[in-house]
Parts: sequence; C-alpha cells; structure tokens
Amino acid sequence: MKKVISAFLICTVVFLVSCNQNVNLEGAKEVSISKKVDSILALMTLQEKIGQMNQYNGFWDVTGPTPKEGDAAHKYEHLKSGLVGSMLNVRGVEEVTKVQKIAVEETRLGIPLIIGFDVIHGYKTLSPIPLAEAASWDLEVIKNSAAVAAKEAAANGINWTFAPMVDISRDARWGRVMEGAGEDPFLGSKIAYARVKGFQGEDLSAVNTIAACSKHFAGYGFAEAGKDYNTVDVSLSTLYNTILPPFKATIDADVKTFMNSFNELAGIPATGNKFLQRDVLKGDWNYKGFVVSDWGSIAEMIPHGYAKDGKQAAELAVNAGSDMDMESYLYVNHIEALVKEGKVNEKLIDDAVKRILTVKFELGLFDDPYKYCDLEREKLVTGSKEINDAVLDMAKKSIVLLKNEKQLLPLKKEGLKIALIGPLANDKNSPLGSWRIGADDNTAVSVLEGLQAYSGNKITFSKGVELVNGETIFGMETSINTTDRTGFKEAIATAKNNDVVVMVLGEYSYQTGEGRSRASLDLPGLQQELLEEIYKVNKNIVLVLMNGRPLAINWANDNLPSIIEAWHLGTQSGNAIAQVLYGDYNPSGKLPMTFPKSVGQVPIYYNHKNTGRPTIPGPNQVFWSHYIDETNQPLYEFGYGLSYTTFKYENLKLSSTTVNEGNSIEVSFTLTNTGKYEGKEVTQLYIRDLFGSITRPVKELKDFNMVTLKPGESKTVTFTITKEMLQFYTANNKWEVEPGDFKVYIGGSSNTVLEADFTL
Ligand code: BGC
Repeated sequence: MKKVISAFLICTVVFLVSCNQNVNLEGAKEVSISKKVDSILALMTLQEKIGQMNQYNGFWDVTGPTPKEGDAAHKYEHLKSGLVGSMLNVRGVEEVTKVQKIAVEETRLGIPLIIGFDVIHGYKTLSPIPLAEAASWDLEVIKNSAAVAAKEAAANGINWTFAPMVDISRDARWGRVMEGAGEDPFLGSKIAYARVKGFQGEDLSAVNTIAACSKHFAGYGFAEAGKDYNTVDVSLSTLYNTILPPFKATIDADVKTFMNSFNELAGIPATGNKFLQRDVLKGDWNYKGFVVSDWGSIAEMIPHGYAKDGKQAAELAVNAGSDMDMESYLYVNHIEALVKEGKVNEKLIDDAVKRILTVKFELGLFDDPYKYCDLEREKLVTGSKEINDAVLDMAKKSIVLLKNEKQLLPLKKEGLKIALIGPLANDKNSPLGSWRIGADDNTAVSVLEGLQAYSGNKITFSKGVELVNGETIFGMETSINTTDRTGFKEAIATAKNNDVVVMVLGEYSYQTGEGRSRASLDLPGLQQELLEEIYKVNKNIVLVLMNGRPLAINWANDNLPSIIEAWHLGTQSGNAIAQVLYGDYNPSGKLPMTFPKSVGQVPIYYNHKNTGRPTIPGPNQVFWSHYIDETNQPLYEFGYGLSYTTFKYENLKLSSTTVNEGNSIEVSFTLTNTGKYEGKEVTQLYIRDLFGSITRPVKELKDFNMVTLKPGESKTVTFTITKEMLQFYTANNKWEVEPGDFKVYIGGSSNTVLEADFTL
C-alpha cells in the first residue's frame, strides 16, 4: 500500500512540475515555478518540509558500503526518509549521482538534493585567490573566472557554490581577507556583482552554471582584532555605508542564496538576527532566495550566550529568517516540536521551503535531477584548456608591481644568470591557496617550473630555508620553521654567483584563510633573515611575494630594487609570474587593500574619517591623531600598483561645478603613457563630501576604468558624476544626498594627483 501511495505522489510531483516547461517569458516562468512549488508544498508533511531545511556534510564514502552505525548511519537514514534537502562536500559525478539517487528514488516525494560546495576560486583548476583577482580591477575577467569555475564544478556534479564572499575587511590580520575583494565597498560591490553573474550566467538551468551564495551576512570581516569568529560591534552608518553595499550588489545580480555568519553583531549573532535577515534582506531588499546558516552557526548561538539550548537556538534562527541549517542538526531535531508548541509559525516553514524549492526548480533539478551528473562531460571539462587559459589570464592580471626602481624588471630573456631562492619558489602547493578541496595537492605550476619553461636563461635554484616544519592538522601544515638555517649557506653561494636573484617569499597556503588570523604581518619564520643575508652578497633582488593578505615588508621596500605581489595565484601561478617577470605581460594590478607599515596601524584603510585633529597644528606638537613611533602613512596605499611604463595625469576639467537633479558633471583629464612600454592603467575617481549629517570619509572611490596606451600615446579619459553617486546612509537612517561642497580626485591610486571642487 505504501509503495502505491509513494508511486502516486511521485507521479503527481512529476506531472505537476512538467506541465509548464516551455515557458519563455521570465515573469510567466516565475509564476509557473511558484505554482509548481505550491503544489509540491501541498503534498508535504511538516517533517518533509523541515527536511528540505536540513543540510548535511557528505557523511560516508558514498562509493563504499552503506553505513550501519554512528553519525553516518543516522544521516543516511535521514536522507532515505526525505529529511535532507541539501548536501555539501559531496563531489564528483559518481558520488553526487549516488546521493541524488537516494533522494529521488527512495524518498516518498523524490525531491532532488541541491549539492553545495565551496567553489571559492575554482573547483579543480584554480584561479587566484579572490583578493588577488580583486587586484586586477578587471570585472570582465573576474566574471569569466567565476564562469569557468562554475563550468568545472557543474561538470563534477555541483550545482551551488558558497561564493562569493563579499565581506569588506580593513584588517590584514584576519585570515579570510584572502577570500574577499578587500577594503572598499565600491570596488567590492562591482566585483560581487561580477562574480554572481559569472557563477549563475544568463541561464541558471544550463548545465554549466550554478547558484551563487552571498556571504557572510553580515559584518564577519569586522571581527575585533582581526581574530576569526570574534565579536563585531559597528555603527549603523558603518553597516550601511561600508558593509552592506556588496551584499546589495549581489541582490541586484539576482543571487539565489545567502549565507549568514558566525559573528555576533552588536550583541545578536547574525544567524539569529531578525533585523539583518527579515528586516533588511527579506524586507527592505525584497530578497526571494534562501538563507543558509554557516557551518554549525545555529548551534554556536549557545556558546555565544544567546540561546540556552539547541531547541531555543533552532527557534531563534528560524524565526530570524535562517532557512537552511548547515550541520547543526537542530532544525531536523526540534522544529516539529517548536511548531506544535506554537513557538514557530508553520507559515515561516512554508516560506523557507518555498524559497529552497524555487532555487531547485530554477536550477532545473526537477526536470532532471542528474543533469549535473554526466561522466563524459566531467572528463571533458575538468582541467580543460579553456579553463586553464582563463585562470592563467586571471593570474597574470592579478599581479601587482610594488616597486621597480633600477628597472631591474622586466628581465632579459637571454644571457642572464638567475638565482632562484626561497621556500616558495619550487612549491606547487602554496599557490593553490587554502580553499581547494576539489583540487589535487601539488598541482600548481611553481615559479621554478614557470621560469624554466620560459626562457633560455640559466636558472639555479636553492631553497635557502624550509618555511614550515611539516607538522600538520587535518593534513594542513601548521608549524613555522624558526630554527633551521642549514640551507642558508648554499643559497648565499648561489646568490653570489648569479646576476639577478629572484626570491620567492611569503605565506604558505594554509597560513591564510578561515581560522588563520595572524598577530604579525611580517614575513613568517626565517625568511626575513634569509633575505637580508642574500642582500649582503647580491643587491639585484626581485622579491616575488606569495601571500594571502597585506604584509608589512618595510625592510624589503626600503632596500630592494624590485618587488611584485603575486599572492596565491592558483594552478597557473608559475606561468603567470614568468610572463610578468619577463615583460610579456606588463603588470596592471592595483592593491584592493592597504598594506600597513606595521601591524600596529591595523585597521588601516584609505576611506577613513578625518578626526578633529588630523594634522600637526605646529612644530613639536603631540596632541594630534597619530602614533609617536610610526607614521600615519601606509606602506602601499589602496589602489596602488606600478607598471613597466609610467603614466602622467593632467588637464583636469569639469563640465560644470554644480550637480543637481537631472544634471551630471563630466570629469575629464588627459592620461599619457610617458614610458617605454605599452601599458594598461586603472584610472580612479574619488569623491570627498566635505561635511554631512554624519561625518564623511576623507575620500571614497566612486568610479574607475582601464586605459591601454602605447608609449607616448595620450587619451582623454572621462567620468560622469551623478547625484546618485553622492548618496549615503545619513543621520536620517536613509539613503539620500545632502547638498553641500565636494571634492573630486583623480589618480592611479587613492593617493591621487588631480583635484577640483564642485557643489550639490
Ligand atoms: C565557512 C563558510 C563555508 C562553510 C562550508 C564555514 O566554515 O565559514 O564560508 O562556506 O564552512 O564549507
């Protein structure tokens, strides 16, 4: 009898979902999806609804035997009973097919799973870490990088990525700065939009696009002291003017899912935060997708001191608008009772389930639950030339030239003897970064391989020092070498015998990322000491930095002729670095985050407030906003980055000095390539609002564009200032413009070179 009922129900679901498949108009499609969702909802028991809100991590080796006991057996039983709506970290066509089959063929209603995975900067073929990509300021290339990542992930059974992370952060100590787009809300918003568009494409139901997830909502990047998961307490002004804009941009890009965050915000954990999830996100922003909790973040409301037990945590989270429980097991265990006791309204459950089912429909999972499970496509797409070409393109555009004083770069392709030194120079692992669960270890092209493949120069490699001692947690290296100098001697001799030294120093992959906050921003371990020893015997050093966050490299900046910031650049790392070192790609990246002179300056960011005592009022003064043992200036400012050529900015003109309703100002200037190489410059426009109902930052990025010029060539570059660009979240708790005096600044970094005044 039970079999007959379930056969009937499955037929009903299939009938209901297939009756309106060829609808073309967007609006009609939405209506039809919403009708289909309603009809499925009408068939569901309360427990089945709650099941859709439950997400489990991959819980057994799915290609192995069925689990008989423990947690895995328990989860397996839930999956078979329709109590799981999504799984994460199940990957590859074979594994995904197996779990999907259980959901579709063994549960009463056969509702397919949505399969989530952290496709943060690629699946198996890796792009640069997101912070590096942001340094390209190239929105089309960033979008394409997300698109190829989606294609490779989708070919491996994944249909939902937990990306982009759009958290603004001003604190380089926080390990997850590697995962975002840096410190600026404007640049961050543009990149957030591009990434969502890249992942989701034009058609979410296509086999090469996946649902994106805007995370972590909200404030996670403002953890006190840069310590991961730490308390966040910011003003409404900072929340609205700095933290929320990139999230709003993902809504504008039609992002399908949101993830909340581990942190509390002014005393209320984000996961249980009604104001964030119900008032702002689902209310003011009219967001129609669903919100997934962060890993175990519903249960974490207990140690936060916000919920007394798991049941109350579930109640608080669901009432606050968290639609899916990632790995807390609390929805599946408690919501039914909470509904029966009247503590949770079943309407909220229906709303959450509708949101989840809608995304499953939009992905096309009801039409074909196995559409992402094609073994042939998996083979064809994974690691394809198209994807490798795209990540190489992204990698070279992510590199930032920080210094090139003696024009040591670009290197000659012939006749040079090069010493390649440093623990990261032959490392095929670190360039992969710390988010690479789908990639195989040691698959990046190392700098050694890149340089060897590239030119006829003789390259002699000497490691100099081991960066880590090889002690591991979860297979990730943890312990820095601070004692073993046995490699110094050989490295010094190698440096002595060569014309140029390329030193590759920085952080190994697991020194950044989640849970990897640092209290120091120096080169870790013995690397600084090695660098200074090498400098004693050969001053022609090109420092190639590999890292996931801004570092305080003052000594290197004071002493070395050339420095490039090469981040963790992904699979094609060594090839991209070689192209830049040899000048086949003229570096065009600009820093998306300020580099401090010392960790004590952090948080340091260009769009800070002026304070009442911003400058020295006279000689020998002490009572102004400064340090007595450090300057206020950063080492490298936001937006900074050099090229092998040079650019001159001049002739700033404004079409008018007032902007008002219906009237915008054209800002134009002449940009000239005054050097010897063709080059690309990211020109940047900043605005300062001189006074307001709340104090305003000293400068805010409001536009940028890229200009390519041949040596000697000039172009007139034009930006438009509109009234909308002058809006901010005012003392009235509204987005509005306030009339007054403004300044516009133009330059190749936030340290701008041209300025003019205008009024509104
Ligand atoms: C991270 C999220 C991630 C999730 C699933 C959490 O620890 O904060 O960003 O998506 O794990 O892997």
